[in-house]
Amino acid sequence: MDDVKILKGDGRHAVDLAELYRDHTFAGANGPLPGWVAYSPEQFAQMAAAPQVRMVVAEAGGRAVGIAQAFDMVTWGYVDLVVVHKEWRQHGLGLKLLAAIPTDGWVAAELCYLNAHPGLGVMARRAGFKICDGQWTWCHRMLTDAPSSP
Ligand SMILES: CC(C)(COP(=O)(O)OP(=O)(O)OC[C@H]1O[C@@H](n2cnc3c(N)ncnc32)[C@H](O)[C@@H]1OP(=O)(O)O)[C@@H](O)C(=O)NCCC(=O)NCCS
Repeated sequence: MDDVKILKGDGRHAVDLAELYRDHTFAGANGPLPGWVAYSPEQFAQMAAAPQVRMVVAEAGGRAVGIAQAFDMVTWGYVDLVVVHKEWRQHGLGLKLLAAIPTDGWVAAELCYLNAHPGLGVMARRAGFKICDGQWTWCHRMLTDAPSSP
């Protein structure tokens, strides 16, 4: 673990991150589940460069082995993505990545995960998140499902 560096995500990581997201997320490895989209390297490069995205990457041996990413909602943050490469799990990297997301300007952070995932809920609680089940329902729409006239 000593050789792992936590860095601000940038375009250099885009190819590794697309592979991580495709092969090492719960939805990717068990999917594709409805609503799950395999982001391309170009999309990761765009997200890394976007001013509203706060992306941190774990790098080992010159390769990205983990990512945490949140969207800056101005007063709070939405943690959209936490993934650790399967070979690097259970060494505290997920928690380190979550803690490395800059939080300046935020009063709170929110995070959503699939209940079927065996570890994300445990990690989220260890990081201080409280489960809000039953208070909200997560909704999803592909743009192709939008009605043509409201
Ligand atoms: C969830 C995930 C990020 C955890 O990464 P990690 O580096 O193994 O996590 P950590 O080592 O920091 O563990 C954090 C806590 O969660 C617990 N945990 C991690 N994986 C677990 C699992 N599979 N089952 C139960 N607990 C687990 C750890 O034991 C630890 O708790 P502890 O300190 O009380 O022991 C990793 O399993 C992963 O990438 N899963 C796929 C994520 C995914 O699908 N993301 C896309 C949607 S956001």
